[in-house]
Amino acid sequence: MALISAPKMLTATAFSQLFLLSTYSILMHCYSSEAAVRPPQTTEMVLYFQDIIAGPNANDIPIVGIPGTAWSFTQFGTVFAADEPMTKTPDPRSAIIGRARGMYLISALDGSSAQAVFSILFSNRAYNGSTLEIQGTGKLLDKVVEYAVVGGTGKFRFARGYATLETIPVDEVHAVVQFNVTVRHD
Ligand SMILES: *[C@@H]1O[C@H](CO)[C@@H](O)[C@H](O)[C@H]1NC(C)=O
Ligand SMILES: *[C@@H]1O[C@H](CO)[C@@H](O)[C@H](O)[C@H]1NC(C)=O
Repeated sequence: MALISAPKMLTATAFSQLFLLSTYSILMHCYSSEAAVRPPQTTEMVLYFQDIIAGPNANDIPIVGIPGTAWSFTQFGTVFAADEPMTKTPDPRSAIIGRARGMYLISALDGSSAQAVFSILFSNRAYNGSTLEIQGTGKLLDKVVEYAVVGGTGKFRFARGYATLETIPVDEVHAVVQFNVTVRHD
């Protein structure tokens, strides 16, 4: 009995040691690759779009619409192109953080809501060259609309989140849009 069971025990011990060793190395491998890749982060920002709809400095302009209709903010099918500076404070002379570039379409038949698709292109030191992709629908008369952050590049790879936009009129052609964004990313 003793002669037979001794090698068996040895084998069992050797096997479990090997098993423990490999488990250990797998665990260490997981820990070291987790240490190399940063965990997802959450970034929150408040920025201001300078929106100008008419005059020599217009940056938010209707480009196409249904033939025979007067292209406007309340006419279904009107598409606007926009390229607006994003500033650090509501003051248009404050530091420029980047630009909001894209388009929106009056998407409700009764003209009450719009579909927006645009990119935030950062040019400040912290996020220079990185972008966020914003998409969503909002009622034109709502004081605050919320859009989804559906992606990003650079510092914002794998971005997901949301943004609220609150329009604060300055005069007949100029509005400041307070853009609060919360984004999770790598
Ligand atoms: C951002 O990147 C561009 C192109 O690489 C460079 O010319 C510019 O100086 C950078 N801006 C800042 C604020 O770092
Ligand atoms: C956006 O952020 C500012 C500053 O934190 C805050 O005062 C404001 O209420 C926020 N807007 C919305 C719609 O949450």
